[in-house]
Amino acid sequence: MYRSYTCGELRTDHIQEEVTLSGWVQKVRDKGFVVWIDLRDRYGITQLIFDEERTSKALLEQARAVGREFVIQAKGTVIERASKNPNIPTGAIEILVSEFTVLNEALVPPFTIEDETDGGEDIRMKYRYLDIRRNPVKDNLIFRHKVAMEVRKYLSNEHFIEIETPYLIKSTPEGARDFVVPSRMNEGQFYALPQSPQTFKQLLMVGGMDKYFQIVKCFRDEDLRADRQPEFTQIDCEMAFVEQEDILQIFEGLTQHLLKEIHGVAPEKFPRITYDEAMQRFGNDKPDIRFGMEFGELNEVAQHKEFNVFNSAELVVGIAIPGAASYTRKEIDALVDWVRRPQVGAKGMVYVKCNEDGSFKSSVDKFYDQNDLAKWADVTGAKAGDLICVLSGDSNATRAQLSALRMEMAERLGLRKATEFAPLWVIDFPLLELDEETGNYHAMHHPFTSPKPGQMELLDTNPGAVKANAYDLVLNGNEIGGGSIRIHDKDTQAIMFKHLGFTPEEAKAQFGFLMDAFQYGAPPHGGIAFGLDRLVAILGGQETIRDFIAFPKNNSGRDVMIDAPASVDEDQLKELHLKLDIPS
Ligand code: AMO
Repeated sequence: MYRSYTCGELRTDHIQEEVTLSGWVQKVRDKGFVVWIDLRDRYGITQLIFDEERTSKALLEQARAVGREFVIQAKGTVIERASKNPNIPTGAIEILVSEFTVLNEALVPPFTIEDETDGGEDIRMKYRYLDIRRNPVKDNLIFRHKVAMEVRKYLSNEHFIEIETPYLIKSTPEGARDFVVPSRMNEGQFYALPQSPQTFKQLLMVGGMDKYFQIVKCFRDEDLRADRQPEFTQIDCEMAFVEQEDILQIFEGLTQHLLKEIHGVAPEKFPRITYDEAMQRFGNDKPDIRFGMEFGELNEVAQHKEFNVFNSAELVVGIAIPGAASYTRKEIDALVDWVRRPQVGAKGMVYVKCNEDGSFKSSVDKFYDQNDLAKWADVTGAKAGDLICVLSGDSNATRAQLSALRMEMAERLGLRKATEFAPLWVIDFPLLELDEETGNYHAMHHPFTSPKPGQMELLDTNPGAVKANAYDLVLNGNEIGGGSIRIHDKDTQAIMFKHLGFTPEEAKAQFGFLMDAFQYGAPPHGGIAFGLDRLVAILGGQETIRDFIAFPKNNSGRDVMIDAPASVDEDQLKELHLKLDIPS
């Protein structure tokens, strides 16, 4: 038996007990006549003691010889510590060792295995298995497990069945590029890894499995960010005989269950706002509603004066930054520079200081008097002491720029509190999105999403105005989940493919199996998928999903630990009927 207890278990109740522990050496402290070893495993740290009086000299020598991260086994008696450590649960006891075995030696680790490590991101990723020994990473993985367990518990109680769907499939369009896998047995043909199990879960509805879920890997070849990985995990769900309202209720319930289990509180009812309202109030379809700074549209009160920048703009819009009227000229200039960075892209920024005495001081005093500026304050909800920041230009771009400023200021002012959770539903998304480059429309959610009732006709006349039965769950400014009520008849699906630019032949070649299935009694159905990595990170008070994934990829999509992707040898290429044409 390697161990009778873990390293996090022993207390004063165990004093005098003979125990066996196994674990990693966190630290050795050698005082000459006495040696202590901090022994660590997943559960905690227990102190081992060796001394000249009570242990043999040979044992003392052995203890002295071990290095950091050696794997050892120790047998001994639990005794009370002379000087207790109140900071750890096992701090009142130690083990007086009588037998000691080195199970495996270890090289000196390339960074310290401690909460605050000296290792940078790259080295920690290369030796991720050592990083996982550290509490912050280990705790995140345990936390992820807990969230996944609660998800399974809730959905199983609601009679959902977890069903696996294949990974070697054909393209499922979710808006990213596919990862493709060459087929050895079918020359010149490729599988695609699923961007999501979308079509399969719809086929399960045709198959009568009316409540499906799966915690499942999805693969998307897209540019990476803090909240995006090329392979990530979804809580993927689908239900038959449901309307949007049914889905929102079940999954609001899931989110409430998680918030309650993990943080002890959840809002009674999640707010719902339409996509249009979200864009108007926050400039963003995933608004963070933990704080105000809502948009005030100023066209009416700021245009038709002498200030041509505003007169020629499609949208003039501002936010009131609480308490920022005290900013110095230098601080405001820095803010202007910030919005002019290429990542944000504003041309400039107009500001109004709302002074404590009720007067206003703006960067455009030449064009606007105190009465004008009072109206701006009214529209943006600015109070004495606030700074109104105004951007203008093309509507979409200006909203995005001001949204970036709103989030940045909230961050700087400490308004994005990690322990506060503000979920909401964003509903009534547009069905289609115009690709500015090609001039073509593509599905905003995916091609299987149904338009709102009575809007099919609009597809011919004003496609951009058609609203979808599609919804997102947003938590603290992050899109946690998205879904829709699906098209469930062949004809409507065919019309949709036509509008998305597929010829009937292309639609049949790519999605014939789904259209066929729709002819065999497809029930009305809809669903949603949550991003598990994002959900876990945000519930854990963070936003970088990498920290909650055991073996994540870096920003170039590489696994630096196993060094993937990598080239394959000629024979393998030949077997796969592939010829590479890369200039060396
Ligand atoms: P969607 O594409 O909105 O919907 O994805 C659902 C959720 O998955 C998460 N997500 C990601 N997380 C990490 N890295 C990524 N690269 C990534 N991409 C998406 C997000 C997102 O909200 N089949 C539909 C769902 C449905 O209609 O039922 C789908 O995949 O949190």
